Amino acid sequence: MKIDPKKIKVLAVDDDPGSRELLQTILESHGYQVVTATTGKEGLNIVQGVPVDLVMTDLRMPGMDGLAFLKAIHQSLPALSVIITTAHASIDSAVEATKLGAYGYITKPVTSERVLHLVRRAIEEQQLRQENLYLRRQLEERHQFANIIGKAPRMQEIFRLVEDLEKSESTVLIQGTTGTGKELIAKALHFHSPRRDRSFVAVNCGGLTETLLESELFGHLRGAFTGAISTKRGLFREADGGTLFLDEISETSPTMQVKLLRAIQEGEVKPVGGEQSVKVDVRIIAATNQDLGQAMAAGRFRPDLYYRLNVIVVGLPDLKDRREDIPLLTTHFLGIYNQRQKKEIRDIAPEALALLLDYEWPGNVRELENCIERAVVLARGEMIQAENLPRGLHQTTTERSLTFNVGTPLDVLERKALLATLQDVNGNKTTAARLLGISQRTLYRKIKGYGLDRLLHENKMPESA
Ligand SMILES: Nc1ncnc2c1ncn2[C@@H]1O[C@H](COP(=O)(O)OP(=O)(O)OP(=O)(O)O)[C@@H](O)[C@H]1O
Ligand SMILES: [Mg+2]
Repeated sequence: MKIDPKKIKVLAVDDDPGSRELLQTILESHGYQVVTATTGKEGLNIVQGVPVDLVMTDLRMPGMDGLAFLKAIHQSLPALSVIITTAHASIDSAVEATKLGAYGYITKPVTSERVLHLVRRAIEEQQLRQENLYLRRQLEERHQFANIIGKAPRMQEIFRLVEDLEKSESTVLIQGTTGTGKELIAKALHFHSPRRDRSFVAVNCGGLTETLLESELFGHLRGAFTGAISTKRGLFREADGGTLFLDEISETSPTMQVKLLRAIQEGEVKPVGGEQSVKVDVRIIAATNQDLGQAMAAGRFRPDLYYRLNVIVVGLPDLKDRREDIPLLTTHFLGIYNQRQKKEIRDIAPEALALLLDYEWPGNVRELENCIERAVVLARGEMIQAENLPRGLHQTTTERSLTFNVGTPLDVLERKALLATLQDVNGNKTTAARLLGISQRTLYRKIKGYGLDRLLHENKMPESA
């Protein structure tokens, strides 16, 4: 693995100026950044205040000694490696330091060879650990993404767009009501982009107060505000080289919008309480469940930020506008929840599917997913039955009423009732039969008998016939 010393900051702590300067010279002459401290206490202040990649500390110092310093570091920053330097080499202190989690130790007078070797190895191992952790997480995410379902033309169009954007770094705005798959598409965009091996970081802009969101996004220095007990890098920097997903972007305050625009345009962020800006290289994908154009027209969203985000727009359709995907999604979720719950439900009964097809799905795909998850728990046989579905789905009967003059011939009444019901359920015969309290066979017979089949076949459902 290649390490770049210029990006690595080492803290060197020693009460003896000569030893301190020697370490500093060795490291700096090989390109490392070095900060120094003369006591453990001062060192602790530094690691909690600025991001440090490695600590080298003397063992015997007045006040807080090297071992106490090591303990204190590992309490707040367990992943930070510490190398001990000591003039009083003794097996005891070395053993104790290792037991306490020191990465290694060097006896004084230090040689540049030993220092550089140990520093390099410590950094490499640290980076490897981070990378493994990251790769594992990516793998899980990538797996998920192989399964975006949609054969509806509007979904197919979106898939093509995701493919077309493969080499792109453009900002993308994803619009869609709740549960339509905005985050799923954002991840697909990331994993299909040149940044796929770097982080995908998501933040819900609607879930935090303005101050919290600011420090969450841009980071803060220690002591920047009450409760800021240590420095935070912020999500822009976490996403450096990768993608930052700004969810519910319409919920940001006007001040926040200004700050976001600046960060996106300049490619740099300033931590709360800090003076200096830090460069970041982040691709932005934003999502909203509101019409952002309308929010702008109403003065709730800044036009400059709107146009900055609005480069490429993905509009996700409501589930009720792509009902042809309901059976596919159902099978997909059936597979997932069978596996998770160790069940073997093969299919969904036609009556139950008819209910799914009729429902309005205000919560879209997420609601369908929850519904299938629940049904898999409840189902007893090999099929999901209508009774395994939530009550809300059964109430498809509309409030619409028909009026008749007393004395209307019964067959006329029946024909009108049949037609109105079929209209209300979009021609779905399973549902119509259930609502009318007759078998499907009887329904078919009556449809034919009243000459309604021609109307249904031609897909014409006139208001009256
Ligand atoms: N096309 C799809 N194929 C398979 N699963 C989907 C699809 N769309 C959404 N889902 C699933 O539905 C759930 C909700 O999706 P997601 O979180 O992406 O929606 P969202 O639009 O971000 O919702 P919200 O606005 O509430 O944040 C997730 O579990 C997701 O995996
Ligand atoms: Mg979401």
